[in-house]
Amino acid sequence: MYLGIDLGTSAVKTVLVDDAQRVIATQSRSLDTASPHPGYSEQDPAGWVDAAFATLDALKADHPRELADVEGIGLSGQMHGATLLDVNLRPLRPCILWNDGRSALECRALEERWPALRTTTGNKAMPGFTAPKLLWVAKHEPDIFAATRLVLLPKAYLRLILSGEAVEDVSDASGSLWLDVAQRDWSDEGLSATGLSRKQVPRLVEGCAPATTLRNVLAQRWGMTRRPVIAGGAGDNPAGAVGIGAIRRGAAFISLGTSGALLVPTDAIAANPDRAVHIFCHAVPAMWIQAGAILSAASCLAWIARLFGASESDLLKPLGLGPKAPSPVSFLPYLSGERTPHDDPLARGMLDGLSFGTDRTAIVQAVLEGVAFALADCRDVLADTGIVIAQADVIGGGSRSQFWLSVLANVLDVPIHRFADGETGAAFGAARLGRLAVTGEAVEDVCTPPRRVETFEPERVLVAAYAERLPEWRALYRPRN
Ligand code: XUL
Repeated sequence: MYLGIDLGTSAVKTVLVDDAQRVIATQSRSLDTASPHPGYSEQDPAGWVDAAFATLDALKADHPRELADVEGIGLSGQMHGATLLDVNLRPLRPCILWNDGRSALECRALEERWPALRTTTGNKAMPGFTAPKLLWVAKHEPDIFAATRLVLLPKAYLRLILSGEAVEDVSDASGSLWLDVAQRDWSDEGLSATGLSRKQVPRLVEGCAPATTLRNVLAQRWGMTRRPVIAGGAGDNPAGAVGIGAIRRGAAFISLGTSGALLVPTDAIAANPDRAVHIFCHAVPAMWIQAGAILSAASCLAWIARLFGASESDLLKPLGLGPKAPSPVSFLPYLSGERTPHDDPLARGMLDGLSFGTDRTAIVQAVLEGVAFALADCRDVLADTGIVIAQADVIGGGSRSQFWLSVLANVLDVPIHRFADGETGAAFGAARLGRLAVTGEAVEDVCTPPRRVETFEPERVLVAAYAERLPEWRALYRPRN
């Protein structure tokens, strides 16, 4: 038996997976995010721990026999967040999250202080990443910076609570901007450019390697007789890749979670930091992931549902199974700024083309199309690095909408495949990493693709209509700074 725990942004999801890779049970607990100022995004690390423990307590109540047999645990998590701990390893302030835009000035300062940043990390300094957040804290909260003994990404903090040890995997560490992605090791130069040293970051392991073991007292609490090993695990997107078997070069996939991304595993790094292409180490050895990342995807649908006071499924129902033509309305999904391709934390959303004839359905369709157009931008900047996408799988909560996947197939002009349990992707991938850490099996034997339940093919007329709309949609964006 294996457990995968995904510390997401909107919830912690835990899945229990048996030796035949069947999901036996899933538990999820939601998380709150605070925005103390416009553009800020923070979470209380104690909330992660409470939510994770609640999922495990619930699994213990419903599946005590299966839990007793757990041998390996994998963690996956929202990337980039800065969790600052004091000398007693207690959080000094709320974690500053991946979608927090406060550190734009610090990004420029960091690139000046460390000219090799882009060649070493493969990435551009963007406010979502961890390192510029530390420069912001050093400037605005100097006492907290001075008291910082250890900086952890969210899931490494959870691992610290679960095991007593600070360990991070190389895929999540890639999102810190302190990793030499080719060497898969911390960059001393990068750390010192932020006023830190190796002593203030955790030990590194590969995602499928053993990292540590569950504390005895917790193993007892959940009735786990074998004191499970905890694997390195992965950032949410690399973990999602492992869940759907996207471990080989070119196996493109789209994530439609709170954030969105178009991701492609590679066996060689081809950076394009100027257009905000992301490069992360993969959760499996000697592989990397290149991605375009957008800050708002399924969260846009949740937002419009809140505005209309309706459930997401009520909003989607009138749309049917696929579009007949593009909506007359256009939507920019930059509700919390944007990374790829603009790197603009001040970018904001927009609805364009409204008239008295506009109804709710046209607006909802525009929201889904706006996210798809943003992913078309990601496709194009990846193409600049030589990556051609011929088809893509989809994971994340948004993959439940057939209409959305049909829009994606037509906007991106590629077949889009859907799995049965797309929304449990990252947690399932984490469970696979937990298994690999225990058994030492070959990665390709465990990380097989699940069965695709449906394929959405592009239709000639719609592809042409969306291709005509794309430049008009792009022209709506104007930088504010
Ligand atoms: C990736 C990114 C998001 C977060 C939250 O760069 O910022 O995917 O990991 O999901």
